[in-house]
Amino acid sequence: MKKQFNLKLLKSKKEIAAAVEQLAKKINKDYQHSVPLLIGVLKGSFVFIADLIRKLSINLEISFVELSSYENSRESSGDVKFVKGLDIDIKNRDVLIVEDIIDTGITITSLLNYLEKKNPSSIRICSLTSKPSRRKKEIKIDYLGFKVPNKFIVGYGLDYKEKYRNLPEIYSLEDE
Ligand code: IMP
Ligand code: MG
Repeated sequence: MKKQFNLKLLKSKKEIAAAVEQLAKKINKDYQHSVPLLIGVLKGSFVFIADLIRKLSINLEISFVELSSYENSRESSGDVKFVKGLDIDIKNRDVLIVEDIIDTGITITSLLNYLEKKNPSSIRICSLTSKPSRRKKEIKIDYLGFKVPNKFIVGYGLDYKEKYRNLPEIYSLEDE
């Protein structure tokens, strides 16, 4: 029989909005003398980055990359695919990566290696969520919304098998 899950509310709309606001405040302050290039990591970060940029009052530019490592399961395959690479020059730019979640850290490590070769002035990481208990690579997250427990989470852009991205809140998947 097909496995069923219950969704358990982890972060409400209000909690998410407050976290986004706090992150934007710090980013506005830190980048007031620069025009950062925000690089959203698709697909999961699209909801977060859309809300985040509307709280940013600095001048900025946006680009996207699409990475895939999960191959439709709840476990990382450990092997990161660039579905869509960068289409602009980032040399001498202040790059701010915008992620939905940092789990093992494998995806962001590949992305950092890829971006560093292109000689930006700086690279920082902004992630809505982090699952530190699962980390396999040490990652410095400059701007973090929430630490989340070691559970698979969905909603607010995050998916399970491409579903649930449209939920406005963040939920954990609980076995039935
Ligand atoms: P990492 O390479 O293990 O750090 O995984 C990063 C990517 O896996 C994220 O950008 C997500 O796309 C996906 N991912 C990891 N954990 C979750 C989760 O709990 N829910 C949804 N997607 C996840
Ligand atoms: Mg992602």
